[in-house]
Amino acid sequence: MERLQKVLAQAGVASRRKSEQLILEGKVKVNGIVVTELGTKVTNSDRVEVEGVELVKEKFVYYLLYKPRGVLSTVHDDKGRKTVLDIFPEVEERIFPVGRLDYDTSGVIILTNDGDFSYLMTHPKFGIKKKYIAKVKGIPLRESLRKLERGIELEDGKTAPAHVKMQSVDKKSGTALVEITIHEGRNRQVRRMFDAIGCPVLKLRRESFAMLTTHGLNAGESRQLTTHEVKQLRVLAETGKIG
Ligand code: URA
Repeated sequence: MERLQKVLAQAGVASRRKSEQLILEGKVKVNGIVVTELGTKVTNSDRVEVEGVELVKEKFVYYLLYKPRGVLSTVHDDKGRKTVLDIFPEVEERIFPVGRLDYDTSGVIILTNDGDFSYLMTHPKFGIKKKYIAKVKGIPLRESLRKLERGIELEDGKTAPAHVKMQSVDKKSGTALVEITIHEGRNRQVRRMFDAIGCPVLKLRRESFAMLTTHGLNAGESRQLTTHEVKQLRVLAETGKIG
């Protein structure tokens, strides 16, 4: 669901402000009915007309990028830092990253121009699982890992139950590799969870996003998702199961 004025602006009809004006002037129809309310939400299956001309819908595209470290997962940065779009091959569609990964986090990220799909993939109520491998300072106690698993109190509330597994311990350097699977996407969530047990994250990588992994890609490389994968992800969000 997108706001009508945003849909108009994205389709290149006019600026957001001018699109609002067109709506207020009664020049926009949704499924044959004049809509004058700003903020009316439409989906891709709604037919939108502006002054009698049907909007040409941009076709939806979906990509998986192996995000390297040192890149922002935004479309633009005011400070001129490199973003995922800077390292992405030129595409015609206005794609954006689905959710976010920190500047220093590497791994799977999806890029698309489909806002509804992005919502399904990121809202915690749809339960899409994201698995991370964290290299942490210190060797977490079993009880600390259990705390992460049950949910831990952060400043923005308790985290949802997670799946946590110790992968390996390096006693010499006093570090550990821990696998953690969550379905929420709060800001710097994994890092804050490990901070809360006194084992700060030294390195973080998103190993998988639902069934998607970086398999076959090097950092910085991308590929288009198959139609089947996109369908699987939708089904997974809508039913909690694949197929
Ligand atoms: N949690 C984090 O702390 N950072 C990320 O990039 C993703 C999840």
